[in-house]
Amino acid sequence: MIGKSILALASTGVLASAQLISDSELITDPGVYGPPLELVHLYYDEFPTGIAVSAKGRMFSNYPGGLDATNVNNGTNGKYTIAELTGNRTETPYPSLEVNSPPGGAIDYTTYPPTGAGLPDYFIGSQSVVIDPADRAWVLDTGRVLTPNGTLVGATYGGPKLVGINLNNNTIFQTILFPPTVAYADSYLNDVRFDLRRNLSGTSGHGVAYITDSSTEGRNGIVIVDLGTGESWRHLDGSPTVHPVNEFLAYLWGVPLYGYQPGKPFTYIPFGSDGIALSADGEDLFWKSVAGRYLYSIPTKRLRDRSMTSEILAQQSITNHGQTGITDGMETDTNNFIYHGNMEQNAVSFYNPANGTDQVFVRDPRINWVDTFSTGTDGYLYFTVNQLVFGPLTYPGTDRRQKPWALFRVPLPNNGTKPRLV
Ligand SMILES: *[C@@H]1O[C@H](CO)[C@@H](O)[C@H](O)[C@H]1NC(C)=O
Ligand SMILES: *[C@@H]1O[C@H](CO)[C@@H](O)[C@H](O)[C@H]1NC(C)=O
Ligand SMILES: *[C@@H]1O[C@H](CO)[C@@H](O)[C@H](O)[C@H]1NC(C)=O
Ligand SMILES: *[C@@H]1O[C@H](CO)[C@@H](O)[C@H](O)[C@H]1NC(C)=O
Ligand SMILES: *[C@@H]1O[C@H](CO)[C@@H](O)[C@H](O)[C@H]1NC(C)=O
Ligand SMILES: *[C@@H]1O[C@H](CO)[C@@H](O)[C@H](O)[C@H]1NC(C)=O
Ligand SMILES: *[C@@H]1O[C@H](CO)[C@@H](O)[C@H](O)[C@H]1NC(C)=O
Repeated sequence: MIGKSILALASTGVLASAQLISDSELITDPGVYGPPLELVHLYYDEFPTGIAVSAKGRMFSNYPGGLDATNVNNGTNGKYTIAELTGNRTETPYPSLEVNSPPGGAIDYTTYPPTGAGLPDYFIGSQSVVIDPADRAWVLDTGRVLTPNGTLVGATYGGPKLVGINLNNNTIFQTILFPPTVAYADSYLNDVRFDLRRNLSGTSGHGVAYITDSSTEGRNGIVIVDLGTGESWRHLDGSPTVHPVNEFLAYLWGVPLYGYQPGKPFTYIPFGSDGIALSADGEDLFWKSVAGRYLYSIPTKRLRDRSMTSEILAQQSITNHGQTGITDGMETDTNNFIYHGNMEQNAVSFYNPANGTDQVFVRDPRINWVDTFSTGTDGYLYFTVNQLVFGPLTYPGTDRRQKPWALFRVPLPNNGTKPRLV
C-alpha cells in the first residue's frame, strides 16, 4: 500500500511540473566566424566568375560564356566577357564593347559541330582577368562558349589567348595566342598567375605566366607562358593531381553536386585543376582541382624547365599538402597564406605553408560558391560569390540562381597585402 501511494504521488508530481522542451535550449551553428564581410558590388547583369583589383582600386570582372550561355556575344547583342565595375551595381564592357563583340559572334556555326570563333583581336569567352605585379590587366580567353542548348564548343586557333591591357590608356599591348598543341580544342584555360622577375631560370627575362587547364574533357595540366617570347608549353598532363577525382561528391547548402549537361545523364563533377596561387616569393605554385580535396604545389623552376627530363622531374616534385575542402579560385598575400574557398563550410579558408595547416578565415551564410579572389594593394582580400552550382550545369539541372551575384572583401590578417613579384 505504502509503495503504491508513493508511486501515485511521484506520478502526480511529474504531471504537476510538466517539462516542456524548446529549441532555444540547444546550441546551434553560429554560421559566422572571423572579420565581417564588406559588400563591394552587386552584379545584376551577366553572371561573373573572376575579380581583379588594380593598385588604383579599379575593379574588373569576367563573365564566361563557357559557364552561362546567356553571357555569349552573338556579334550584335551587346554581351561582354570582360567589364570594369563602374558603380555599385553597374558594369561597362572593357576595354570596349567592340573587343567583346566578335564579328559574326563567339560561335562559328559554319563548322560541324559548331566551334569557338578563331578571332585573335576579339574576346570569345574569358574565364579570368588578373592584374599583374606591374599593375597591368591580363585577360585569359578559353576560346570556348556554350551554344544556346548548353553544349560547350571546341576552341579554334586564335580563340585561346592571353591578352595584356595597359590600364593607363586602356589599350591592348600584347596578345599571346596558344597553339593547338598547348591549348587543345577541348582545353579550358581557367586561371592565371604572373611572376615578372627578370632573372627567372629558363625564360627570356620578361616574366612568366602559369595557367591551369580545368578541361571537363580531361585535358588537364599546367600551361607555362614566357611573356617575352610568347612561347607556351605544358607540364603535368598525366598527373592525377591535375585531374578530377573519380566519383567525387561534394555538397553545397545541403545539395549534392552532380554534373549535368542538357540531354545527357547526370555525371560526377568533371572539373580538374582550376584554382592557382603563387607563393609570396614566386618559388612555388599551388593548385587544386575543383573535384578534389587535396592541395598540391610544385617548385616553379620545375615548370619553367623544358629539358628532356623536365616532365619526369616535374612529376617527381609535386608536394601534397593534404585536404583543404572544396575550392575554386585561390590567392596569396604577403603573409604567404594561400586563401581558398571552403564551400562546404560556407567559408573562406587559408593554408599556411609555414605550419602545414588549413583553417577557416571567414564564415557567413551569404557565402555559397566562392569563385575567385584578388588581393588588393589596399590590404583587402576581394572575392566573388556567384551561386555557380545553383545553375543549370549541376543537379538537378534547373537554374536556381537568384540575382544579384556578389563581390565581398575582408581585411587581410597581419596587415597583409599583394606580393610584388617584379
Ligand atoms: C543576336 O541577339 C540579338 C538580341 O537577342 C538578336 O536581335 C539578333 O538577331 C541576334 N543575331 C544573330 C546573328 O543571331
Ligand atoms: C556604393 O555603396 C556604398 C554603400 O552603400 C556607398 O557608401 C557608396 O556611396 C556607393 N557608391 C556609389 C558610387 O553609389
Ligand atoms: C598606351 O601607353 C603605352 C605605354 O605608356 C604606349 O606605349 C602606347 O603607345 C599607348 N597606346 C596608345 C594607343 O596611346
Ligand atoms: C632576382 O631578382 C629579384 C628582384 O627582381 C631579386 O630579389 C632576387 O634576389 C634575384 N634572384 C637571383 C637568384 O638573382
Ligand atoms: C545543341 O546544339 C548543337 C549546335 O547547334 C547541336 O550540334 C547539338 O546537337 C544540340 N544538342 C542537343 C542536346 O540538342
Ligand atoms: C598555423 O598558422 C596559422 C597562421 O599563423 C595559425 O592561425 C594557426 O593556428 C596555426 N595552426 C596550428 C595548428 O598551429
Ligand atoms: C597594422 O598596421 C597598423 C598601422 O601601421 C599598426 O598599428 C598595427 O599594429 C598593424 N597590425 C599588425 C597585426 O601588424
